[in-house]
Amino acid sequence: MMSETYRIGLGNNNNSLREKANSDFVSFWDEQAKHLSWFSPWDKTLDWSPPFAKWFVGGTINASYNALDIHQSEKSTKSAILWEGENGESRNVTYGEMFTLVQKFANVLKSLGVQKDDRVTIYLPMVPELIVSMLACARIGAIHTVIFSGFSATSIKDRVSDSKSKIIITADGGYRRGKIVKLKDVIDDAIKDIDFVEHVVVLERTKNKITMNPKDNLWNDLMNNISELCSAEALPSDHPLYILYTSGTTGKPKGVLHGTGGYLTHLHSTFKWAFDIKDSDVFFCTADIGWVTGHSYVAYAPFLHGATQVMYEGAPDFPDASRMWDILQKYKVTIFYTTPTALRMFMKFGDEIPNSFDLSNLRLLGSVGEPINPEVWKWYFKTIGKEKCPIIDTWWQTETGGMLISPLPGLESIPLKPGSGTLPIPGVDISVVDEIGKDVPVNTKGYLVIKNPWPGMLLTLWNDDEKYKTVYWSKYENCYYPGDYARKDEDGYLWLLGRADDVLKVAGHRIGTAELESCIVSHPSVAESAVCGIPDEVKGEVIIAFVVLKQGVEQNSKILEKEIIDKIRNNIGSIATPKQIYFVSKLPKTRSGKIMRRLLKAIGNNEKIGDVSTLEDGAAVTEVQQVFDELKTSIKNNLE
Ligand code: PRX
Repeated sequence: MMSETYRIGLGNNNNSLREKANSDFVSFWDEQAKHLSWFSPWDKTLDWSPPFAKWFVGGTINASYNALDIHQSEKSTKSAILWEGENGESRNVTYGEMFTLVQKFANVLKSLGVQKDDRVTIYLPMVPELIVSMLACARIGAIHTVIFSGFSATSIKDRVSDSKSKIIITADGGYRRGKIVKLKDVIDDAIKDIDFVEHVVVLERTKNKITMNPKDNLWNDLMNNISELCSAEALPSDHPLYILYTSGTTGKPKGVLHGTGGYLTHLHSTFKWAFDIKDSDVFFCTADIGWVTGHSYVAYAPFLHGATQVMYEGAPDFPDASRMWDILQKYKVTIFYTTPTALRMFMKFGDEIPNSFDLSNLRLLGSVGEPINPEVWKWYFKTIGKEKCPIIDTWWQTETGGMLISPLPGLESIPLKPGSGTLPIPGVDISVVDEIGKDVPVNTKGYLVIKNPWPGMLLTLWNDDEKYKTVYWSKYENCYYPGDYARKDEDGYLWLLGRADDVLKVAGHRIGTAELESCIVSHPSVAESAVCGIPDEVKGEVIIAFVVLKQGVEQNSKILEKEIIDKIRNNIGSIATPKQIYFVSKLPKTRSGKIMRRLLKAIGNNEKIGDVSTLEDGAAVTEVQQVFDELKTSIKNNLE
């Protein structure tokens, strides 16, 4: 299987680093960790009692210190954040200003009784205060848990209850497509029955009317007359930095817990290798901080390097399709990191729009979150990068903390292949295996596995070591199982082929089928439900839902559909809204009761079933065909 290659690099070639990493990954990471500032050195680089890894044991460090304090002597007047509001406002926040804001807000948190290890929930729009809040938590050893501002009150309630956050930081509202999203109202609803929340801090961003409750305090009031000095706590390397909830295959989101020393080492190294970051660069990652990309490569990695970055508040196509290119031109962006979904959308708008902007400062282009199809890769390379910027397709996950597969132009110059993330980062051993863990032959689809620990890996799942073991470490002995399909080609390049489990990827966002199904069946008229993803030209994948109503329910399906969609929006958030709901009389199941999702997908795609010989559970081919035909007929009748 030959594929096109693009020889474009930055001339860096440091193969010795890769060799060193391959021969002894522990000493290799030991060296990398020394690029950070530690309060005290570690005695042991890695304590590995599978599946729990502790990196740099005995060392003490602080994330906020490495993000801010270390830059004060040389970069206090350098821009840390070039912020662009959706409504056209802009702010230039320097490293010096961030340092003051973070110290002040850390003192605010202390004054509200926040102590080391306490959890703080953050539900803010994309404004600099979101990063200030995170770095302030890190400064005093509190564990932040950021919730994407598109999530609903029920999702917040579940997450706040699970993390037992005493403090919530929110805003009156945030701008999205010219409208105000009333975040404070959502928080009021989410925490009305939670008595352990002691304080809510409210940033006034949109100045819309809000109700102030006894627990509420305005951000500005708290920041007035508070000391500007707050030294960073020396924390053990494995001190938890944050919890980030993410969807899995069960009904409840999992609280992925990340540590400090290992995580920062991973980010520092990968940011340098993948983006070849220089002091003069202007970096722009479009990810919302509510997702892991925004945590790792907006809130932390650029700060570790004292880099300047653009932060944008709103929708990428608001007020029109030229917004992104306008931002790139305005701030002279040199490194742009976005998602295939965004690129597919921009590509649909046509070349004329980006061609009418000056994008000549760009030197590197990144992609993350979903497989990038070769067609889009080439469009990105030609139309946006003018054939001079390498495409950095980075594969990783919430759980991995940072990139694990990516071209690394800051380290080495290798040919790129459109659609491949190329090679694992140094020090990480990745294979593609079959069901029993044996390496599959070259160019054969299999499961991706990671065979050794890496510094950015999650510590565990919040309050659930058992689930951590079962979800990631039980399929193959002592190997991390990410739940992705992949193949390795003749050059050892990895091609990521999508999720191998029941996790959907809609516009690059993770949505668990079980979570969505349990939300749908909570509607009083619904007996059963199954959801699946079908390919979509822009979003990669969209959701379709199959719903079986309870016996005797005779409601109009249009009204029911609306009620179910409202329920999903209220319980999860609009990102989980299905594109289509099919009301059916029963779900296709194997004899042992497993839903045959492949049939559902085939129906959604209006396809034939295809090869059923490998169907799970050994269901008979005729039986599958019969269920498929019945289901199709029931949908047809329903639509007539
Ligand atoms: O399926 C892979 C896909 O996104 C999943 C992780 O999702 P999440 O935890 O939300 O993190 C996304 C941002 C890091 C992976 O299991 N994925 C991520 N990056 C890529 C990708 N699939 C293909 N190519 C990528 N570059």
